[in-house]
Amino acid sequence: MDLKSIVPWGRSFEEYRKMFSLTDSDLQKNILGCGDGPASFNAELTTRYGSVISIDPVYQFDAALLKNRIAEVYDEVMPQMEANKDQYIWDSIQSVEALGKTRMDAMNRFIQDYEKGKASGRYLNDSLPTLSFSGNQFDLALCSHYLFLYSEHVSLEEHLASIAELCRVAREIRIYPLLMLNGEISPHLSKVIHAVELEGFTAKLVDVDYQFQKGATQMLAITRKT
Ligand SMILES: C[S@@+](CC[C@H](N)C(=O)[O-])C[C@H]1O[C@@H](n2cnc3c(N)ncnc32)[C@H](O)[C@@H]1O
Repeated sequence: MDLKSIVPWGRSFEEYRKMFSLTDSDLQKNILGCGDGPASFNAELTTRYGSVISIDPVYQFDAALLKNRIAEVYDEVMPQMEANKDQYIWDSIQSVEALGKTRMDAMNRFIQDYEKGKASGRYLNDSLPTLSFSGNQFDLALCSHYLFLYSEHVSLEEHLASIAELCRVAREIRIYPLLMLNGEISPHLSKVIHAVELEGFTAKLVDVDYQFQKGATQMLAITRKT
């Protein structure tokens, strides 16, 4: 993986809590964060004594390299957000400037925690669709802003293999958002739901109390049929 090809951009614990409707009881579960990148979910949940492992291919890089890349990406992403701001809802985050601050606060928190978390095994360089965990190692796997969002680059086959792998390692899976970058529902969504139901899982679209990308109001929750 070439560092220049990655666009690290991370969300906060509070955003994860809302995107995935995480209750206090959910936050006590053994959680896998899949594609967490520079989000501060792991850092913040760990300070609350939660149990979480994040995986992402960007964790092959050290903190100094990621920090430099985050600074470069910030200068590229902010003008793009300004140009595309009609695609987002500006209520909890009220301006592009406030968004920049929110994201940088989260990513700085991640950077401060990263080397310590890597040493204790909380940040692992691992990638879908093949994870290095044993079956049912996690109660809950969360995937924010990777599956479905990048459906133009991540094929249906990769989605099916990735979600089958998540179903192998976790008892429950939550994925958000279900829209692509252009705001349309991912064409892979209905096929994924059909495939997991054939494999004996229940897949539900669940309303969440979070919306930044317009129309991104639901997560996909997958559980094993009892
Ligand atoms: C837009 S970022 C989202 C980061 C974080 N989940 C959040 O919502 O703030 C997408 C992340 O997916 C990661 N990613 C890309 N390919 C992946 C793969 N095959 N398996 C797991 N994560 C991957 C990227 O490195 C990046 O950190």
